[in-house]
Amino acid sequence: MLAPQADRVMALGEWEERWEEDRTGFHQLHVHKILEDNIDKVLCGRTGVCFFFPLCGKAVDMKWLADQGHSVVGVEISEKAIKQFFVENNMTYKEEPVPSLPGATVYKSSEGNISLYQCDLFTFSSSIEGQFGAIWDRGSLVAINPRDREKYAALITSLMAKDCRYLLDTFLYNPELYQGPPFMVPDEQVASLFGSECDVAALHSHDALTERQRAWNLDYMTENVHLITLKSA
Ligand SMILES: C[S@@+](CC[C@H](N)C(=O)[O-])C[C@H]1O[C@@H](n2cnc3c(N)ncnc32)[C@H](O)[C@@H]1O
Repeated sequence: MLAPQADRVMALGEWEERWEEDRTGFHQLHVHKILEDNIDKVLCGRTGVCFFFPLCGKAVDMKWLADQGHSVVGVEISEKAIKQFFVENNMTYKEEPVPSLPGATVYKSSEGNISLYQCDLFTFSSSIEGQFGAIWDRGSLVAINPRDREKYAALITSLMAKDCRYLLDTFLYNPELYQGPPFMVPDEQVASLFGSECDVAALHSHDALTERQRAWNLDYMTENVHLITLKSA
């Protein structure tokens, strides 16, 4: 089932090129409905939660959470995406090098509640910002190269605080028909990637086929939402 996409590799430069050429059809102008619908399950009554956005783009969800008193740390390779996030949301920011991450820059909102690291996600670790109370993974596991999924799951698990609630969005479709991204991630693989250290709960599943996916030649697309927590929690 995974074979058609197993060897597909998208270089970081290709993502940066997409941003430069404004080929960012994945970006949504409004807060993602799945985050909105499931926020109570993620927060579980907690306030002031530190959220991690693994491949953040310029998701408006980050501002939405910060406006509710949470803090946000994101990682994104495209400088243009990060700068657009702050400009489009009328936020001032400062940028600084990250001594422990050579070549990386952190962009911090003036209020200090949003920090976006411009670097390759796979160079990021818990030594930079500690562990997180929540993770919103939209367009992230489904965007990294399929061969990097084990490495990704190990990194994400290492970033989860004991009480972390990790909301993960994945897609099912026929990978013979479209090469991705987003890549297809079967539920069995979500279970095998995270199941040894985490409990994985299926929250929701719905038909996500729109004109955009029909244009990719897809005949079905199912969006699945998972809530992942550490077993030790
Ligand atoms: C599909 S987009 C999703 C963005 C965002 N999560 C959203 O919902 O709009 C994936 C993003 O990850 C960035 N990206 C891809 N691979 C990366 C990597 N290894 N490290 C950092 N950023 C990466 C791309 O530039 C792109 O903005």
